Amino acid sequence: MKKLLFDWFSQKKRDLPWRHTKDPYLIWLSEVILQQTQVVQGLSYYLNFCSKYPTIEDLANASEDEVLKLWQGLGYYSRARNLHKTAKIVAENYNGVFPNTYDEIRTLPGIGDYTTAAIVSFAFDLCYPVLDGNVSRVISRMFGVITPVDTPAGKAELMRILNKQIDKKNPAEFNQAIMEFGAIQCKPRGPLCETCPFQAECYAFRHKVVDILPMKKNKTAVKPRRLDYLVCIENNHIWIKKRTNRDIWQGLYDFPEIDCRGAVGAPLPTKKGGQTPPLQLLDTCEHQLSHQKLTISFWETEKLPENLKSSAQKVPISQFFEFATPKPIHNFAIKNQLIANSVEKKSLNVKKL
Ligand code: ADE
Repeated sequence: MKKLLFDWFSQKKRDLPWRHTKDPYLIWLSEVILQQTQVVQGLSYYLNFCSKYPTIEDLANASEDEVLKLWQGLGYYSRARNLHKTAKIVAENYNGVFPNTYDEIRTLPGIGDYTTAAIVSFAFDLCYPVLDGNVSRVISRMFGVITPVDTPAGKAELMRILNKQIDKKNPAEFNQAIMEFGAIQCKPRGPLCETCPFQAECYAFRHKVVDILPMKKNKTAVKPRRLDYLVCIENNHIWIKKRTNRDIWQGLYDFPEIDCRGAVGAPLPTKKGGQTPPLQLLDTCEHQLSHQKLTISFWETEKLPENLKSSAQKVPISQFFEFATPKPIHNFAIKNQLIANSVEKKSLNVKKL
């Protein structure tokens, strides 16, 4: 397998900046970003992080708000919080020098088996195979693994195969190559089997089961959830709220929420008996998270109910985009021209629904 894979990789690999470094900090940064998004989108985030925080100590010295702002748009914000936490630990406990063993790295927040293997193989040439979604797919197709890949037994089977196949002299190249092969040739849908160098040995190709492998057991349950926001502008200021609970978007900013359990269009009074002033529905949207499907309504109000003020803050509209906001909030603000130069606006310029 190695020889064909390396030949393929030398011809087809993309020239990506994190492949030209042995710095474990930069490799870790790239891997955390790439777990969250595709290479094309991840590239600009990676370059922004590198230029703003060239060393792990720069990242450790940043505020969490700043890190979340730079992460904005990638989603899954606990990854960004863990990035920051780990940078602080390395700065404080390791004098800013990234640890170089599997066991030490594996203990750091947000760094699991996959990321540890990626860092130690790419930065330190240690022989640990990476097992991510791309690699699972390649191995299960190539070797005809029918055990579901999202089970401990499936993972163990894939790891046994990988430990046999990995190039012990060049684990970094092997890991990069197999991930790249999964990303651009052995794709989830529409794999490029006609031009694949592994036709003769791929179990799935020979047995015509490419589209049913890899097998999966658990489909994640997605719960519906409704969010109702009050959009309140007073004297060129807007009320926003930091999400501090252990919930979605922790650490990000959105608007004060009201509890309307009825159908959209029929808001009930706020909790704790607060009077809800007349509301105008500005916009609604849907937003899919990994485990929740959100239906979001934005309600305009001229006065924020008193009981919501203590957990919220009023900021100049011109500063709104300096805060890290979840994607649907950001989109709402763009769509409704809540832009930096809108200070003169008396109220939102919105499409009335
Ligand atoms: N996806 C995850 N890690 C990657 C890497 N190092 N190169 C390209 N794609 C990746």
